[in-house]
Amino acid sequence: MAFSVTINGETREIDAPAEMPLLWVLRQELGMVGTKFGCGIGMCGACTVHVDGQAARSCSLPIGSIGDRQVTTIEHLEKTPVGQALQQAWLDEDVMQCGYCQAGQLMTATALLTNNPNPTDRQIEGAMQGNICRCACYTRIHRAIAEVAK
Ligand code: FES
Repeated sequence: MAFSVTINGETREIDAPAEMPLLWVLRQELGMVGTKFGCGIGMCGACTVHVDGQAARSCSLPIGSIGDRQVTTIEHLEKTPVGQALQQAWLDEDVMQCGYCQAGQLMTATALLTNNPNPTDRQIEGAMQGNICRCACYTRIHRAIAEVAK
């Protein structure tokens, strides 16, 4: 089927089965490989993108369900003030270890701070708790978000 989807502000024409997850449309059909595959069942957060500004798991979102909602991916992050600030904080706090989950972590953090610029520690923990990091960089991730939230 043919779909017209807005990704990072650009309308993209996609020919794919309606049930194909957005993750695979991004990675395989559009070559946007910044969004990562982790578990494929909505449990790890590696595949997080924004849909209408809210964090969403692209592995569990069929392309046929997107409609006219706006999709934003990690490739667009540097074009937003919050995304830029978080990327700098990630570097300042030396957050990354293997780095695999970090696109998803940054997308969830960006959604949090865009919707709530001054979250409490508990709100940061609540927003980030579904993003798994096998290297356990949780303390540094939290510090980086709190730094931008000041
Ligand atoms: Fe989507 Fe794990 S790959 S939540």
